[in-house]
Amino acid sequence: MSASISSSNISAAEEILTAGLQKAADKNVGMACSFSVEDLVVIDLLRNIAPQVTIFAIDTGRLHEETYGVAEALLQKYGLNIDWYLPQTEALQQLEREKGLFSFRESLENRHECCHIRKVEPLGRALAGRTGWITGQRRAQSTTRNGLEGIEVDEAHGGIIKINPLIDWDDERVWTYATDHRLPVNRLHSQGYPSIGCAPCTRAIKPGEDTRAGRWWWENPENKECGLHRR
Ligand code: ADX
Ligand code: SF4
Repeated sequence: MSASISSSNISAAEEILTAGLQKAADKNVGMACSFSVEDLVVIDLLRNIAPQVTIFAIDTGRLHEETYGVAEALLQKYGLNIDWYLPQTEALQQLEREKGLFSFRESLENRHECCHIRKVEPLGRALAGRTGWITGQRRAQSTTRNGLEGIEVDEAHGGIIKINPLIDWDDERVWTYATDHRLPVNRLHSQGYPSIGCAPCTRAIKPGEDTRAGRWWWENPENKECGLHRR
């Protein structure tokens, strides 16, 4: 469960970031980066507001080449080194040896198992010892994210502060910011991928389809979360 700290919605991303960092005592806060356009916006905001915040990413081993390309572009643009977290070798070896490379297509249980090994467990290590973390989540991304707050207490990770500065941003605002600030956006976004996760579990959407329709497209909409953001 996550609990909202402030019911009066703080709208400006900068205000949410500043207030959230204060709540987290402004120490040892990490920004979780999937290299989406939203995450690039947050990273750019952080350069001015709180350059001390560590940027970390989980390399599931199944990301698109284009996504790794964005990480390289961030290094070029800001000299930004990402703190990468990888799945544990033993668990991954066992999964691939026993169930092959596409077990996640066979059942929801298998999908959760893969997401747990490749994403959720590494996230736990990435957050260990932290007082807070920052994400690029927005309410408009999904019905599962309607209830998101700018600053939350993340009970799923020991009650640390979780900061979602872009909660109220719509697509236009995100893309205007990205264009104005020449952010090195993932090429896949312009090829029909509004939401980008692991390569075998993400596909382009058709016009009019839901933003997250291309994520785990073979599953029901209410299952389209991987466990990174348990509420
Ligand atoms: S997911 O739960 O469906 O995979 P989504 O792709 O929408 O999440 O991303 C939401 C936020 O989760 C991102 O803005 C980012 O903060 C975090 N996130 C997602 N994937 C990763 C990743 N591989 N590494 C680090 N953070 C991630
Ligand atoms: Fe595995 Fe797909 Fe989850 Fe990536 S998104 S961890 S490949 S099930």
